[in-house]
Amino acid sequence: MLGCAPADREPALMHTSPLVDYRPPALPPIENGIAHGLPREAYTAEAQLALEYRKVFARHWTFVGFAHDAQEPGDAYPTQVAGQPILVARGHDGVLRAFHNVCRHRGHVLLRDACRGARAIVCPYHGWTYAMDGRLRRAPHFGGYARVPEDFTPERFGLKELRCEVWHDWVFVNPDANASALDAYVGALRPYIDGVDLSRAQVVSKLDFGVVRANWKLLIENFVEPYHVPVVHRESAGGQPLRGHYMIVDGHCFGCGVDVSDAPDAERGERLDMSTRYLTLFPNFVFAWYQPDQLGVHLNVPLAPDRTRQWRVIYQIGKEDWDPEYAERLCSLWRQVHLEDHGIVEELQSGRASCVMDDGGLLSPHWETSVRRFHELLVDTLV
Ligand code: FES
Ligand SMILES: [Fe+2]
Repeated sequence: MLGCAPADREPALMHTSPLVDYRPPALPPIENGIAHGLPREAYTAEAQLALEYRKVFARHWTFVGFAHDAQEPGDAYPTQVAGQPILVARGHDGVLRAFHNVCRHRGHVLLRDACRGARAIVCPYHGWTYAMDGRLRRAPHFGGYARVPEDFTPERFGLKELRCEVWHDWVFVNPDANASALDAYVGALRPYIDGVDLSRAQVVSKLDFGVVRANWKLLIENFVEPYHVPVVHRESAGGQPLRGHYMIVDGHCFGCGVDVSDAPDAERGERLDMSTRYLTLFPNFVFAWYQPDQLGVHLNVPLAPDRTRQWRVIYQIGKEDWDPEYAERLCSLWRQVHLEDHGIVEELQSGRASCVMDDGGLLSPHWETSVRRFHELLVDTLV
């Protein structure tokens, strides 16, 4: 029986595969005051995504999951960062941690599905067993039947831990051990959510949209520009007219907002008709405040140049619990809004097969300044 020595606590560096010759796009030009978007290979090339994994997701605070999905000791779930499998687990000491989701023996992925109240994580291949805080507890028969190799030091072979911090319900991983604290990163949102008591955020529903057949950047871009709203969401967002929107471009925070003054003429929850702030923190934290009492957070996990896994969590932040019928109407509304957007981004992805998109298309100098800011941040990071 192996002892239970402290786990290997050195944060694991995120090693990504070496890059073949690939030159990331330069910042697209501005012609007569109008910017171009990123060229098509930014959305289609495997090498682009490999570079983004290496320089964006492995070096920034990346949103990887929700704390409420590992609420109790022994809860854990698999996710990804920078294309690598990781798991988020709550130890029996109550601490939430992130680890590479890979057995230290031969590299079998440990967790395929979420688990609740587990005592340990057992590798399905040869039964190596890890405590929920990452320590290696057992490596059965590793040195022969019922034997441990003489010089084997289990404390060296705990799960590889990643730097992980939680902000309210949102779990972030930053493989760069030298990066600044999460607080400085999320602080960019504060001017835009003044008066919101995030400690009240209560999960109403988690919507799982499965795999969207589009590059992750198209989902971010679509979220931060309001130009499409009156066309794509004519009914579902009919209470948020284009004329009420304004843009937000502020460091690594970018998006837009809308002020709605007209009295709603639909039943509450049937369409978007409230003042809203749509905010993104580079690279992938997507957050919206629907005033006064609703939040929405998207988790987008890039799987391939043309595949992204997406979830949305709806929160209530008011003092009164929502009426269940209202909550149900909102869930239906959000499913509808996301499906409308997915139809668009999947066609945008198809359009990236065309050589016409070599010039990246054009960005509105008014309504797509947030998209331009996203491109600036991305291109600056990739050089
Ligand atoms: S690969 Fe996990 S126990 Fe062998
Ligand atoms: Fe949309």
